[in-house]
Amino acid sequence: MSNGCCSQEPTSKRLEGKVAVITGGASGIGACTAKLFVKHGAKVVIADVQDDLGLSLSREIGSEDVITYVHCDVSSDSDVKNIVDTAVSKYGKLDIMFSNAGVSGGLDPRIIATDNEDFKKVFEINVFGGFLAAKHAASVMIPEKKGCILFTSSNSAAIAFPGPHAYVVSKHALNGLTKNLSAELGQHGIRVNCVSPFGIATPLMATAFGMKDADPELAKKTIEGLLGTAANLKEATLGTEDIAMAALYLASDEAKYVSGLNLVVDGGYSVTNPTISGAIQSLFASAQA
Ligand SMILES: NC(=O)c1ccc[n+]([C@@H]2O[C@H](COP(=O)([O-])OP(=O)(O)OC[C@H]3O[C@@H](n4cnc5c(N)ncnc54)[C@H](O)[C@@H]3O)[C@@H](O)[C@H]2O)c1
Repeated sequence: MSNGCCSQEPTSKRLEGKVAVITGGASGIGACTAKLFVKHGAKVVIADVQDDLGLSLSREIGSEDVITYVHCDVSSDSDVKNIVDTAVSKYGKLDIMFSNAGVSGGLDPRIIATDNEDFKKVFEINVFGGFLAAKHAASVMIPEKKGCILFTSSNSAAIAFPGPHAYVVSKHALNGLTKNLSAELGQHGIRVNCVSPFGIATPLMATAFGMKDADPELAKKTIEGLLGTAANLKEATLGTEDIAMAALYLASDEAKYVSGLNLVVDGGYSVTNPTISGAIQSLFASAQA
């Protein structure tokens, strides 16, 4: 379910000399960002639990001089420490921690139907995983007095909708972590931001739509059709490359004074409430009938 991301060669390399870790880098947004970061001159460690996918992606992107895949369950302290250590031992330092791994968890939006263990699991990966990524990254960034920590949050934390509580609340927690870390780590020259996408047809979204095992092209078409109907911004479809570009900006020196930001990439969805205009249109339509 690829969005054919990042096919053009950049004219200038915006991450030349930088080293990045990307969690959840074997698929979707993380995979697209790994490709884009390497194109822009970064050395990248991809961390994921999907080993076959992560290994084949890293081989597709380049040699071990520029990209490495490491197995990492982001909810394991030792796994997360290991990816930071790998970045430092292999590429000499860590400039960018892109904590992007996430799961949707159970999809029933009703609180009385929410499974307790599933709720905890979503928090373990989405929130505790983000915390560990930031903690281990900060431990090597603080002495260097620079660094960039970036999370993938969600527009489901920018506007309420009846989504699964565990997922939605986990993304609110990441927004809070972004602000609190930005306040703490600014004194050490470390910037902390998050990016919040609207829906994109990735495997996570296919799972959320109950289409995990469907034909990938059919799933992509169905998901994009539904999201397109709900979207505020028409004539464009959000792809993984758009979030990768947002991450590239936040990770680059172009954003050298940007910290504590939640960059919502949702085509204005979360600042738009179409219910009143919809009701007015229906009123006019029924008056004219
Ligand atoms: N696709 C969307 O519509 C959308 C919208 C808003 C936010 N997001 C967020 O974007 C991020 C990336 O998701 P995606 O849409 O690219 O989906 P995806 O399923 O393509 O990628 C998620 C990756 O995270 C990995 N992962 C899951 N659990 C892990 C763990 N315990 N340790 C390490 N890696 C783990 C998966 O193996 C997968 O490679 C997630 O945090 C998701 O919540 C996605």
